[in-house]
Amino acid sequence: MKRHLLPLSLGLLLSLPAFAATPEEDAIERRHAAFELIAFNTSVMGGMVREKAPFDQAEFKKRALNVAFLAPMLEEHFPAGSDKGGTDALPAIWENKADFDAKMKSFQNQANLLYRASKTGTLDTLKPEFGKLIDECKACHDKYKAD
Ligand code: HEC
Repeated sequence: MKRHLLPLSLGLLLSLPAFAATPEEDAIERRHAAFELIAFNTSVMGGMVREKAPFDQAEFKKRALNVAFLAPMLEEHFPAGSDKGGTDALPAIWENKADFDAKMKSFQNQANLLYRASKTGTLDTLKPEFGKLIDECKACHDKYKAD
């Protein structure tokens, strides 16, 4: 009997939407999830850059790859109207969408540059590239995220 339960629950899972909410609330959930993962991977690199953790090139490279992989997933989760509810996204995003999108692209670009540098880099060469990535986070947050 028990073996029938698995296919049944899988079938249920696949037929249900991931979240029972509005499309805008769903988008907010998904971008929060992506930002949390980006922040986690960034913080591991940050620990090495600030020399709170020993530099491990393979580990750094893995974290840089994760950020480069996740960064392009953000942009589709900023639909118009998703500045309301449980979000820190400011309405300014949709008033200056071209600038916001440019900041997003610039962030993706820097995430790729950091990943490329991490393949052969030493802590000394990676520090400035990592600093530039954090500048990208900050440039966007200063303008488009509530504190
Ligand atoms: C192009 C703009 C942009 C860039 C680049 C950006 N962020 Fe954000 N970030 C936002 C906005 C807007 C929010 C608010 C999202 C919301 O609450 O819906 C946010 C929210 C967050 C959150 C909070 C997520 C939550 O669960 O509430 C974290 C953590 C975060 N960002 C980390 C980062 C880090 C780390 C970087 C750089 C490595 C970064 N962000 C780059 C715009 C950006």
